[in-house]
Amino acid sequence: MRSFNAKSLLCLSLTVGLALSTYAQKPTLKDAFKDHFYIGAAINEGQISGKSKDGALLIEQFNSITPENCMKWERIHPKANEYKFAMTDSFVALGQINKMFIIGHCMVWHSQVPRWVFQDSLGKPVTREVLLQRMHDHIITVMGRYKGRVNGYDVVNEALNEDGTMRKSRWTQIIGDDFIEKAFEYAKEADPNAELYYNDYNIEQPAKCQGAIKIIKNLQAKGIKITGVGIQGHYHMDIPSLKEIDESIAEFTKLGLKVMFTELDINVLPRPEELKGADVSQNFELKKNQNPYPESLPDSVQQKLADRYADFFKIFLKYKSVSRVTFWGVEDGQSWLNGWPIRGRTNYPLVFDRKLQPKPAFYSIIKTVGK
Ligand code: GLA
Repeated sequence: MRSFNAKSLLCLSLTVGLALSTYAQKPTLKDAFKDHFYIGAAINEGQISGKSKDGALLIEQFNSITPENCMKWERIHPKANEYKFAMTDSFVALGQINKMFIIGHCMVWHSQVPRWVFQDSLGKPVTREVLLQRMHDHIITVMGRYKGRVNGYDVVNEALNEDGTMRKSRWTQIIGDDFIEKAFEYAKEADPNAELYYNDYNIEQPAKCQGAIKIIKNLQAKGIKITGVGIQGHYHMDIPSLKEIDESIAEFTKLGLKVMFTELDINVLPRPEELKGADVSQNFELKKNQNPYPESLPDSVQQKLADRYADFFKIFLKYKSVSRVTFWGVEDGQSWLNGWPIRGRTNYPLVFDRKLQPKPAFYSIIKTVGK
């Protein structure tokens, strides 16, 4: 039998200890929650093309991906006769190679749609029939290309006002409120097996939640396929309340739907009072005191962020209907909240920092699952 001297034993125990401690420091989000829901991240073009520094972290920690921008209408279908698929093809390939649950985002939205979609050659609004035809072609072409490979789609994004009434977008103005029904019908036609979602922000607020329920019930009453509802989850440190989140999940669950948090982040910076929800068209001037942590996040705020994230995950875990939690970005440096609603701030909304290190929020989330 091989004998160990004191020195080699010390070496061995150090190596094992080091390996264990490295392992202990590296739990993964996707493993921690594998019996509950997918853990996703929205990824940008640098990440898709492998140019960004967080590629390994993405693959290690996440088992679902959403394209931050490349599948939006203006990117994938900028002109009537021009589709640009290269970036989305790479996005889907990345997800397939890594066996991820792949999300298509988004088919019909009022924002990031080129003007030509709604206009004829003279710049006049097109008719309902023409717009429906364009919507049909778009959905069939994009979803058809990725049929059987993209697992779920945000078919309609942000159709509601804050009070739960229908947003007066070009879609409702030209087609009417039934643009939603048509979008879901076309989506089912394009890929009958894909999961189909209605996605919006602030639908944990009671009035807007009721608006979403109305949309969903209308689809269900007409036998039109809808699989789930996406609560975007662009949150703040103080709003929304945990009760609102909890109750909205319960409401959507009652409709027999999967519920997912599709764009989760927590803004730790001061919020302009006039700011409403997550409408990307809002922008404010950078005023004094609105960028309080340009260098780093103080420990006290870091801890509050960790606690708030843990509170959210405790609620998510209560519901079997919650099937996915997707962060809007991988690490703080990538977040849209560094530039919105005020440009030029340093924000800390995610659970990995700019050096790709797990933050206290990462550990507090993992703890909620009790492993
Ligand atoms: C909305 C959209 C997302 C994204 C965010 C901001 O929530 O659904 O695609 O544009 O705004 O990045």
